[in-house]
Amino acid sequence: MNIVILAAGQGKRMHSNLPKVLHPLAGKALVLHVIDTARRLEPESLCLVYGHGGDTLRTTLAAPDLVWVLQEPQLGTGHAVMQALPHLGAASTTLVLYGDVPLIEGETLQQLVHAARDALAILTVELADPGGYGRIVRNAGGEVVRIVEQKDATADERAIAEVNTGIVAVPTARLAAWLGQLSNHNAQQEYYLTDIVAMAVAAGVPVRTVPARSEWEVLGVNSKVQLAQLERVAQLRTADRLLEQGVRLADPARIDVRGELVCGRDVFIDVNCVFEGKVVLEEAVEIGPSCVLKNAHIGAGSRLAAFSHIEDAIVGPAGVIGPFARLRPGTELAAGVHVGNFVELKNSKFAAKSKANHLAYVGDAIVGSRVNIGAGTITCNYDGANKFTTTIEDDAFIGSDTQLVAPVTVGRGATLGAGTTLTKDAPPDTLTISRARQISIPGWKRPQKK
Ligand code: UD1
Ligand code: CA
Repeated sequence: MNIVILAAGQGKRMHSNLPKVLHPLAGKALVLHVIDTARRLEPESLCLVYGHGGDTLRTTLAAPDLVWVLQEPQLGTGHAVMQALPHLGAASTTLVLYGDVPLIEGETLQQLVHAARDALAILTVELADPGGYGRIVRNAGGEVVRIVEQKDATADERAIAEVNTGIVAVPTARLAAWLGQLSNHNAQQEYYLTDIVAMAVAAGVPVRTVPARSEWEVLGVNSKVQLAQLERVAQLRTADRLLEQGVRLADPARIDVRGELVCGRDVFIDVNCVFEGKVVLEEAVEIGPSCVLKNAHIGAGSRLAAFSHIEDAIVGPAGVIGPFARLRPGTELAAGVHVGNFVELKNSKFAAKSKANHLAYVGDAIVGSRVNIGAGTITCNYDGANKFTTTIEDDAFIGSDTQLVAPVTVGRGATLGAGTTLTKDAPPDTLTISRARQISIPGWKRPQKK
């Protein structure tokens, strides 16, 4: 089949500089949802009809399989499909999708395309409030005779609840002939794609309707209100899928997955967590409330306490992270690492069983096994121009409130006394301390105000 995605409309009601179809739903541009669904149907050609924001669209959606079709000016849905005609294989069926109807499902489309063998097939839905949509007009025998747009409809026709979702499938040769006969003599002076229905009826070509399997899969986005509503629909569906896979969610209405979340068995996710990009939670991982994870891999049995923020990072198995831990890009923790509150790690590797439990910044560091990093430790990794590495070998003990001025190495089994500012390597198995000797001055008086 051929697939044509209509996306030339301006989307005025979004009140945004971003082209409408690039607004994100579940972390992905509206039109990318449609493109991904279309790709799964393996069409012989995949055309995107665009008008507004062409440059932005092209850079955002760049892909070798997309045929870019400019519609300028935009004279209606029929006119839009007409622009794509030169790219459509005449021997097969053409499926028309909307770039602003993101949740349409592949299975529904397969049914529609199946129904379009030697017929015109329309995806329809019955709405309690059909206002604004094209209505499906049937004769006394129940056969479809035409589609009438809201603005052209009589009061009787406006009472029809069955509406055109806009998604249709048609044998391409027929489509080409009918598009050539469209006129714009209607209330909006547009070339309506929907007028091909009456043409099919006149030509004796069967017109079949396929009901959408749910209302949400055919809902379009014209405003931020509708975008927000569809976002909730998409999130609840993701939550349902996770629950069905065996993930335990504290509240399926309070999870946001803006990308791909892969979970092992017996994972638990508490409320208000956000997952972005690709996140993998291995078996028995527990995520506390209000955590944010982006492109992260969390090893089996690890626990993340509340408000932990993890990006482009790997946590090994049996990790204990947070609350309020921040793992920045390039963090890789081996098994059994503990990272406590107000600890920030960046581009640092921790070997097994090392700990940084309180108030620390560790950046550009290579940390061995069983290292203990005390409260208030800071790797001074940046001289204002360049970054340097701190190496802390196995079994080292870093006393509280220590500064490690990189590049510097703390040897295996070394101990740094609290308050040390380390500017030279600390030898292994030795106490290193840099601290002014403590003195007490008898008779000293505080200055008095003059
Ligand atoms: C269209 C249908 C209507 C249907 C409704 C479903 C027609 C004439 N009407 O109406 O029966 O119930 O969708 O939402 O087809 N577009 C272009 N180029 C254009 C005009 C539109 O690419 O010149 C694209 C838009 O970007 C949008 C889609 O086509 O993705 C539908 O356009 P819109 O103006 O929303 O159509 P409606 O008037 O809502
Ligand atoms: Ca619309």
